[in-house]
Amino acid sequence: MAKTSVISGFYKLSPKERLAIVKDIACLTDEEAALLENTGALSMDTVDHMAENVIGVFPEPLGLAVNFQINGKDYLIPMATEEPSVIAAACYAAKMVRDGGGFHTSSTAPVMIGQVQVVGLKDAKHAKNQVLAAKADILKKANDQDPVLNSFGGGAKDLDAKIIDTTMGQMLIVELYVDCRDAMGANAVNTMAEAVAPLIERLTSGQVYLRIISNLATKRLAKAWCTVPKEALGGEAVVDGIAYASAFAAADPYRAATHNKGAMNGIIAVVLATGNDHRAIEAGAHAYAALKGPYTSISKWTKNVNGDLEGVIELPMAVGLIGGAVKTHPVARVAMKILGVKSANEFAEVLAAVGLAQNLGALRALANEGIQRGHMSLHARNIAITAGAKDELVDLVAERMVKERKVRVDRAKEILDELTKRQ
Ligand code: MEV
Repeated sequence: MAKTSVISGFYKLSPKERLAIVKDIACLTDEEAALLENTGALSMDTVDHMAENVIGVFPEPLGLAVNFQINGKDYLIPMATEEPSVIAAACYAAKMVRDGGGFHTSSTAPVMIGQVQVVGLKDAKHAKNQVLAAKADILKKANDQDPVLNSFGGGAKDLDAKIIDTTMGQMLIVELYVDCRDAMGANAVNTMAEAVAPLIERLTSGQVYLRIISNLATKRLAKAWCTVPKEALGGEAVVDGIAYASAFAAADPYRAATHNKGAMNGIIAVVLATGNDHRAIEAGAHAYAALKGPYTSISKWTKNVNGDLEGVIELPMAVGLIGGAVKTHPVARVAMKILGVKSANEFAEVLAAVGLAQNLGALRALANEGIQRGHMSLHARNIAITAGAKDELVDLVAERMVKERKVRVDRAKEILDELTKRQ
């Protein structure tokens, strides 16, 4: 079959039929096609309903971070990640923090922002006043959309309006503040934003275009902090190194991006394992890091008067216990059960603690021996597998490469040849 990306009616086919077409076009072997069809804990029917044009499943390792103590409570943290050393670093960091009394956390109410964009205004100030004067009517219209959320104490609690100058003239942006309780809230907020749009058009005599949640969830923040005894870190020099690393990230966006990526390594792994929207969390975190000026770090580490390390992280955390894939993905449901959080707020705070731990794990290694030593031994196993090693040969090949400081597929193949000839 000729290679074309136009496949008419592809979406109407079953996953099996779609796979047959792709197999043909991409010249997949039977084994390669079978890999996609191996759905593991999920049924093909479930995944076919979760996304579109499904041809199979993409599995990811699921590990468990241990040692976490948050507000005096112990947690087992499920993490889905393909990156070697992330889970090991989280466990190690959580152990050090545990020596200092564990993590402490707080969070704001789970309030998300829904934006309604109004354009074509003759008098933006007047339009803004009209909207603010009709606040009660707009909130009522929004709350009529979700009686269930209201019954749990959530719903549209307030609104505001702002005039912005854009390349296409002034716009009025009306913002609904919706308490989403234990939901992430995108569906509830988007429904409300769409429902109030006609009323806002009438009030402003303008035209509404966008009606959508903002992922810069500044009203839904989670915070975690901890103290790490210098002895747990290996001495005051390491504390100094981490404080210097933090100051570097605070001052330099190039370093801040990597510093924050390190924290997000942990947060996203848990968000993924629990079926939440990790793109929303990622977008919110990085936008928050740039909210008050140049892009900066979302965490801070300093040395206290005793010479111990103190750390704090704060970021938007729009996660839920219901909605999305949280309930439809059977493995996400099990991950949630392992995590054992009782509310979206508790979940958000655990995620902030995981981010702080992951950040600490990376900075401790960077300020000390560097990350390559730990990374390399785990990475070497992947390289050994890529070179074709199986079972006990994976570790044997990996150990040799690390010892030789040559972690490359070509070297792995040579070692593998040598070892298999000997057997
Ligand atoms: C690698 O995935 C993450 C780090 O680069 C984070 C950091 O530099 O802080 C190690």
